[in-house]
Amino acid sequence: MVENMPTILLTGSAGFIGFHVAKALLETGARVIGIDDFNPYYSPDLKRARWEILCANDSFVPRELDLADRHGVEKSFRDFSPDLVCHMAAQAGVRYSLRNPYAYQRSNLEGFLNLIEQARLLPVKRFVYASSSSVYGGNTKMPYSETDPVNTPVSLYAATKRANELMAYSYTHLWGLQTVGLRFFTVYGPWGRPDMAYWSFLEAIMHQEPINIFNYGNNRRDFTYIDDVTPGVLAALFTDALGSYEIINLGNHQPVNVLDFVKTLEVLAGREAMKKMLPAQPGDVVATYADIAAARTKLGFEPKTALKDGLRHFVGWYTAHPELVLAVRNFGRSSRD
Ligand SMILES: NC(=O)c1ccc[n+]([C@@H]2O[C@H](COP(=O)([O-])OP(=O)(O)OC[C@H]3O[C@@H](n4cnc5c(N)ncnc54)[C@H](O)[C@@H]3O)[C@@H](O)[C@H]2O)c1
Repeated sequence: MVENMPTILLTGSAGFIGFHVAKALLETGARVIGIDDFNPYYSPDLKRARWEILCANDSFVPRELDLADRHGVEKSFRDFSPDLVCHMAAQAGVRYSLRNPYAYQRSNLEGFLNLIEQARLLPVKRFVYASSSSVYGGNTKMPYSETDPVNTPVSLYAATKRANELMAYSYTHLWGLQTVGLRFFTVYGPWGRPDMAYWSFLEAIMHQEPINIFNYGNNRRDFTYIDDVTPGVLAALFTDALGSYEIINLGNHQPVNVLDFVKTLEVLAGREAMKKMLPAQPGDVVATYADIAAARTKLGFEPKTALKDGLRHFVGWYTAHPELVLAVRNFGRSSRD
């Protein structure tokens, strides 16, 4: 740790975005208190492999903890007195929330409350947290702007993310805690998430298995590359000129049709996908498309990575980690049995 550098309590540090944010924070010389509970939503081997990289840095302090454990959260704040909180942990996934609603109550509601309550009691200088494009729910106006109404979540996951934004509002209003909610739009890249389409599609292509294309291929997603997102998260932590309550989209501003996305993957993998065209899934939205004017002005955010380049990096990472990728696949298959 470099002297006078802040201590950041970072949750979800073994997760996809949290891991990349932790790495970038450590590169600035900051001390990072990394929390994660290694839950088996997807392979904990992947989470451990990410953590192993972070643990090689002396300024990374790992703490295995479930955020729903209120006393454990209190103790972490007591032990480390963080300057800033970067809350990236959550029970993610739209489809999973249809079958496992209580996982969302525990991580996204109880966990969020435990954390923001300690953040205001200490108090920390700023509380940055992950929200999601899913809060736009049934909205049809494109691109999605932070000023659009967000009262129609179409999944419990989305409802908990919107609830986080409202909880943050009340904490800013009541206690003057500065909060910044970042609405992420389908983030992808190396060390990514096996439950997301870019990973499961590539896996299916590699194993000559069919891929399910929902809504008959008419969904569009604003795929955003991880190395574009990470500086946006760091700016949300460190930029001076932010209001006391901020909600900011971090998207690519270039939605891509899922079939075009599959075509790009096919070219990179050098194999054709076996596509199974299916109707829309409950909870899914048809399109996501971020208005990023606020992110540009407030955070200097500028996505630079074209989808074909970002996917090339992902495919390169995937093929360079055959053992890990196999462990993730085997875990996924056994947890589906
Ligand atoms: N990746 C995306 O495209 C995307 C899009 C929109 C929003 N988000 C949000 O961004 C954040 C990071 O997402 P990600 O893609 O890195 O997901 P991820 O699942 O890879 O990471 C989340 C991490 O949080 C941990 N976690 C979950 N519940 C916990 C708890 N109760 N206590 C401690 N740790 C817990 C998990 O073990 C995991 O390592 C999440 O809040 C997610 O909802 C992500």
